[in-house]
Amino acid sequence: MKPCEVVNVRLGAGEGSVVLLDQTQLPNRVVYREVSALEDMVEAIQTLRVRGAPAIGVFAGYCLYVLARQLEGRGLEGPAFQRELERQGEVLAGARPTAVNLAWAVGRLTRRAAAMAGATAGDIVSALGEEARAIRREDEEMCLRIAEHGLSLVKAGDGILTHCNAGPLATSKYGTALGPILLGQERGVPLRVYADETRPLLQGARLTAWELQQAGVDVTLICDNMASMVLKNGWVQACFVGCDRVAANGDTANKIGTSGVAILARHYGVPFYVLGPTSTVDLSCPDGDHIPIEQRDGEELRSLWYREPMAPAGVRCYNPAFDVTDHSLITAIVTERGVCRPPFVQSLRAACGAEGGAKKQISP
Ligand code: MRU
Repeated sequence: MKPCEVVNVRLGAGEGSVVLLDQTQLPNRVVYREVSALEDMVEAIQTLRVRGAPAIGVFAGYCLYVLARQLEGRGLEGPAFQRELERQGEVLAGARPTAVNLAWAVGRLTRRAAAMAGATAGDIVSALGEEARAIRREDEEMCLRIAEHGLSLVKAGDGILTHCNAGPLATSKYGTALGPILLGQERGVPLRVYADETRPLLQGARLTAWELQQAGVDVTLICDNMASMVLKNGWVQACFVGCDRVAANGDTANKIGTSGVAILARHYGVPFYVLGPTSTVDLSCPDGDHIPIEQRDGEELRSLWYREPMAPAGVRCYNPAFDVTDHSLITAIVTERGVCRPPFVQSLRAACGAEGGAKKQISP
């Protein structure tokens, strides 16, 4: 299976369920699961069966459409339909707090439904189906544009350091941070990749290394604490990372450990690029201090990957899933609408406000 052909999320037969590629099983098993109940949808997001900011947005769109079909099937109409859709949307949106795409996608569907108040449940459900499919289609288009812009920042043979997984599994196609690498591979612009394993959930080892290897990319897996040495050795010409929420000033939340990579990159004079769609930019969030950071179970540190626990039972753990990279450490934020440079307050606003086709360079 080529990574760009992976369908991580899709509607099930008869559009009564959502089918997901269970990312917790990779790279050892390719397992698809089907969900149709709200609690199973939430569980899939919280356990990272579906993960990556754009992918959970696409998943949530499909889920809310499937749930809306169930409300119609139960005979709900008018305000009762709207109220229940809103409630279920809130539960979905609350499944994980950091990636803004989740709440963004739910909001997009519930707003569409609210704008049709007075229409039949059947008509609203059809519109929600369109909206959910549009989110997926647009994500795929955005990833291709991000990949194009990102590829313009590097040259054949360059070494790229990446953290976590921002590839096709985390999006609809190509990915964000891995987009330029996969596109370059297709176009005869090969890049060498160093993939941080990304403790504690190993998205780099399990998913990034798998995707890049399948695509024939020259990939070397490293432990997170080896990044400094790889940079010091001069093996890396650019860092490419994804994002879960970009604040208005450019501060960026991404997988825990990303900010450390940015600090190292600054020390060694290597450009640090954040790649993500404008659906991940949250202009209502002024800066990184306002981004909610998910805290996860300490068992992920103590015992999850081990045959027996590797920490004393009951030891206190601190396990934030994301950190915030200060905008001052970011060379550019690559969106589908172009390469945003500092000062990000202006360039992000220009990118998010711009209508229509991609711009090559967005200068403030
Ligand atoms: O906890 P995860 O695996 O969902 O975290 C994912 C990341 O941090 C990705 O880098 C980010 O969502 C961008 S995916 C294109």
